[in-house]
Amino acid sequence: MVVANWKMHGSTEFAAEIISTIASALSAINLNSAVVLCPPYVYLHEIKRAIGGSVLELGAQDVDYRAQGAVTGGIAADMLRDVGCDYVIIGHSERRQLFAESDALVAQKFVAVAAAGLMPIVCVGETKEERDAGQTLQVVARQVRSVLDVIDVDLGSQGFILAYEPIWAIGTGEVATPEQAQEVHAHLRGIVPEGTRILYGGSVKANNAAALIQQQDIDGFLVGGASLKAEEFVNIIVNIGVEG
Ligand code: PGA
Repeated sequence: MVVANWKMHGSTEFAAEIISTIASALSAINLNSAVVLCPPYVYLHEIKRAIGGSVLELGAQDVDYRAQGAVTGGIAADMLRDVGCDYVIIGHSERRQLFAESDALVAQKFVAVAAAGLMPIVCVGETKEERDAGQTLQVVARQVRSVLDVIDVDLGSQGFILAYEPIWAIGTGEVATPEQAQEVHAHLRGIVPEGTRILYGGSVKANNAAALIQQQDIDGFLVGGASLKAEEFVNIIVNIGVEG
C-alpha cells in the first residue's frame, strides 16, 4: 500500500495534471498495491471526480473529532465520507507538533473516523532526541496504545493502518535504514492486532523504496515530498513490485 500525503501543497491545476499522469502510468502496469491520495481538504471533492474509475483511492490528512457543531474551520469525519474519502490520516507528527495534538486527541479522532466507517491511518514516530536517548520503542508503543485502548473499550474489532514515521526522517532526506525501520516495525507488529498493515514514512523515494519494502514487517509507505512528483511517485510504486 502506498499513501500520498500532499500536506499543504497543490492547486486545482496541479491536482488535475498529477492525477492524470499517475492514473495513466498505473493503468499500464499490473498493480498489486492500494494507492491512496491525501490532498488538502479543499481539493477532495474535485479529486474524487478526477480519479473516477481509476485504481486511485482518496483520503484526508486530518479530521475534527466532533461530529458536527459550532467549530469554525472544522471538518467532520462524516463530511469526509460524504465527499468520497475512504481513509483519514490521524496523529501525523506535524499535527502533533504544530498544533500540540496529544495522544488523547488522536484517540478521539480515531473513534470519530471509525464511527464514520472510514479507515484510520494512525501515525507514530519518535524525535531525534528520543531516538538518541534510546526511547524509540517506548514512544511508539505509547502512541499506538492510546488508540488500542479506545478500540478495546469502545470499538470491538475496528481495523486500522499504522504508519511509523520517525520525525527526524520526515522531509529531511534522511531516511531510516531498512534495519532501523524493521526494528521498530517488528516491535509494533507485536503490539497491533494481526493483519494490521504497517507503513513506513520519512523521506521515501524511488531509490530507497525497494530496500525498505524487502523488510519483513514493512507493508508499504506514507510518502510526503516524493508524492508531489508524478514520476517519482509512480516509480516508488513500481519499485516495490508489480505483478506480471
Ligand atoms: P516525507 O514526508 O516523505 O516528505 O519525508 C512523509 C510524511 O510526513 O508523511
